[in-house]
Amino acid sequence: MLVANDKGLLAMDESNPTCNKRFAALGIPQTLEFRRAWRELIVTTPELGESISGAILYDETIRQHQQDGTSFIQTITDAGIIPGIKVDTGAKDMAGHPGEKITEGLDRLRERLNEYFEMGARFAKWRAVIAIGPGIPSHACIEANAQALARYAALCQGAGLVPVVEPEVLMEGDHTLERCSAVTEEVLHTVFNHLYTQRVLLEGMILKPNMVLPGLSCPVQASAAEVADATVHSLLKTVPAAVPGIAFLSGGQSAELASERLNAMNLRFKSRQPWALAFSFARAIQQPAMEIWQGKEANVLAAQHALIHRARCNRAARRGDYHAAMEGY
Ligand code: G3H
Repeated sequence: MLVANDKGLLAMDESNPTCNKRFAALGIPQTLEFRRAWRELIVTTPELGESISGAILYDETIRQHQQDGTSFIQTITDAGIIPGIKVDTGAKDMAGHPGEKITEGLDRLRERLNEYFEMGARFAKWRAVIAIGPGIPSHACIEANAQALARYAALCQGAGLVPVVEPEVLMEGDHTLERCSAVTEEVLHTVFNHLYTQRVLLEGMILKPNMVLPGLSCPVQASAAEVADATVHSLLKTVPAAVPGIAFLSGGQSAELASERLNAMNLRFKSRQPWALAFSFARAIQQPAMEIWQGKEANVLAAQHALIHRARCNRAARRGDYHAAMEGY
């Protein structure tokens, strides 16, 4: 369901500090009410359900309502979108490993998952963060994060929620495309090893990985075709065919580049990939809309227009039908 009909996921699950950081960059007040208004703008965007199969919410958002009193979860469900929930409690500095993070949130996770299921969530997300740099990632960081992802995924399946398993290799740094491939492959091998050990049903999960990219400050950048080839080759080596869907994070790529690269993967590997190649973008769907909105009621319709445009571009990219002309160049 989550990757059917060429649709994808909308990650609108920024934690309060992350959402506030995005607001601050645009001069939008960093308050509970502005976060609520932003999420209302998203969930009330007309026709969102034509391109979006599931929306990942944050703990604050899943409990919120529109101004007219309708709960967000009701609006999302009425739009034919499956509600999901971010359940990790964030990536924290890893003890003894400078520059590396370990994601927390396993304590009381079983109880929290049951509560979210009762509220209507049907899938969940947990993000692990792996940085590339001199001497990192360490084996310890990859192992600890992979084990936590697998324990989270097993608990989700026990609670009736589909786990979205997100090991993100970050774009920050000057590493090459090849180094990103090597690290991504090591991470995915380790994650699937732990998923197997924890008896996670691969048929009942979604993988949410990074695309394989050169670091943001690497002097040699890559074309969409090169990114597509490197990414799919790494995935073919590491992700079992039993996994029904791979939904990429955008990780700070521009909205257009994320669509172009997803399109290139689907175009070049159409008949050779065992899984659906979909999207689970936050910034690459929301950012243009947030820049238009700027926290002002008068800009809501234009912002919703930008949001639905990005959702449609990414649905087209799932079919290999996305073209730069869709951006109005
Ligand atoms: O955890 C991160 C989000 O779910 C994806 O965000 O597309 O901005 O990387 P992003």
